[in-house]
Amino acid sequence: MKRNPLKTADGSYTLHIPEWNEQYHSKNGALAEARHVFIKEGLNFWCSQNPSPEISILEIGFGTGLNCILTYLETQENSLKITYTGVEAFPLNLKEVQSINYTSTLKKVYPDKTFHTQKNEEVFLAIHNTPWEEETDISEHFILTKQKKFFSEIAADQEFNLIYFDAFGIRVQPELWTEDVFQKMNDALKPEGVLVTYAANGNARRAMQNTGFSVERLSGPPGKREMLRAQKMT
Ligand SMILES: C[S@@+](CC[C@H](N)C(=O)[O-])C[C@H]1O[C@@H](n2cnc3c(N)ncnc32)[C@H](O)[C@@H]1O
Repeated sequence: MKRNPLKTADGSYTLHIPEWNEQYHSKNGALAEARHVFIKEGLNFWCSQNPSPEISILEIGFGTGLNCILTYLETQENSLKITYTGVEAFPLNLKEVQSINYTSTLKKVYPDKTFHTQKNEEVFLAIHNTPWEEETDISEHFILTKQKKFFSEIAADQEFNLIYFDAFGIRVQPELWTEDVFQKMNDALKPEGVLVTYAANGNARRAMQNTGFSVERLSGPPGKREMLRAQKMT
């Protein structure tokens, strides 16, 4: 399927799929959305509830690597040790990776922070260049494994503290927002594990609840009223 770079409201790029009229992130700001949904309401929330610095994260839809680089950046500031598993069936090619500009637009979304753009660009490329299926130390505090496979092939059992559920929307991939899929997610989480997603769809929320999640509706990222955070009930 064709994917074209598209500039979003905060200056960061996403990829647009003309065939579906769908993009990888919100047009209201790709970076701002990722920071709000996955970092603030996911990782930062987890850290506020759990004293352990060791966190295992599963990303559903590795895609552009945006959530991955933002999570890596959190390990630079906080004493965290993150093992990160990104699942993706349709990886970006090199031209697509080069067409997105996250490291140079970070300043706009994090105005209070200083970034080493050159170093972060190297990390971003390293994240994309690491081989699939191999555990790679991106840094002492950030261990990445990318798995090239379909979500339906995930069979993890209580391995993760946190899931970034970043599949395409229910309009284009309704089969990914079902009880079957959320049962897999529930199984993959350790007790009291947390799943966050940008979506707030009622059917998706009920599917989560039916598989044993307690679900909260939270304020969404720019341009979106709500998002969901689900916690595995023990
Ligand atoms: C909304 S995009 C988000 C990607 C990523 N989190 C990012 O920030 O760029 C969803 C991703 O899921 C991948 N995907 C879609 N269906 C899939 C499936 N059935 N199995 C595995 N990956 C899939 C797509 O290729 C895409 O990269």
